[in-house]
Amino acid sequence: MSALFEPFTLKGVTLRNRIAVPPMCQYMAVDGLINEWHRVHLAGLARGGAGLVITEATAVSPKGRITPGCAGIWNDTLAQAFAPVVASIKAAGAVPGIQIAHAGRKASANRPWEGDDHLAAGDPRGWPTIAPSAIAFGVIEYDGRDEETLAEAIELARGFKAEGLDLLSVSVGFSTPTANIPWAPAFLAPIAQRVRREAGLPVASAWGIDTPELAEGVVRDGQLDLVMVGRAHLADPHWPYYAARTLGIDRPAWVLPAPYAHWLERYRD
Ligand SMILES: Cc1cc2nc3c(=O)[nH]c(=O)nc-3n(C[C@H](O)[C@H](O)[C@H](O)COP(=O)(O)O)c2cc1C
Repeated sequence: MSALFEPFTLKGVTLRNRIAVPPMCQYMAVDGLINEWHRVHLAGLARGGAGLVITEATAVSPKGRITPGCAGIWNDTLAQAFAPVVASIKAAGAVPGIQIAHAGRKASANRPWEGDDHLAAGDPRGWPTIAPSAIAFGVIEYDGRDEETLAEAIELARGFKAEGLDLLSVSVGFSTPTANIPWAPAFLAPIAQRVRREAGLPVASAWGIDTPELAEGVVRDGQLDLVMVGRAHLADPHWPYYAARTLGIDRPAWVLPAPYAHWLERYRD
């Protein structure tokens, strides 16, 4: 019996398993408008078998985009472009989610593969950034690993829960680029588990949970309710099928849609 492939229900919404595709910017939108790239990308991921597919950071205003290629939802035309994406994700048996975002001081940047830095002043593709803090992106505020910071975060999570939050995704913000992040497989899982236990909230988390065994372990051990599998999904959009086979679940091919599953099951190696 696999914990990773147990359904998860929250307020009447049931995910078919604990695997989530986290938001991943594609930098392929034009003036905020998503297009064929996003439709194919997200439908493919949903067909791959994840329970939840969350669309990339989607800006609430043009200035809230990270780059000129970021998705937006600041008018009806932009919002309507998500309708076929939502339909495809649902048709594939997954639940669609969206990350509503404002990039604040991270905004007006190049696409990562074109420089991964701010657009130069005077670049016609750039724009003046606005943020809740006057401190420029790149200045250290605090390290983030110490007990005091975590205790504050847990207290904040309790407050959000009291205001009606249902599930929290525990992640790292990269707002302090020089922070010493203790990279390791599933390194955030114990931190997320503390939030889960001490704030009494279901949690999701990501970062380096890229093998079926690790994903199974963090759910089985009560560290996470949902496992966000990001880059492993870019490498293999059918990652849940790989996980199902590795974990030995019954008839693993049926994690995928019938036009794939039937043949994979019939002509198994
Ligand atoms: C190409 C790419 C784009 C990403 N874009 C976003 C984003 O839009 N919003 C966000 O919160 N995180 C974003 N992330 C972070 C992922 O959601 C995820 O937390 C991270 O990749 C760690 O999970 P992984 O180790 O399974 O890849 C992005 C990651 C990648 C690789």
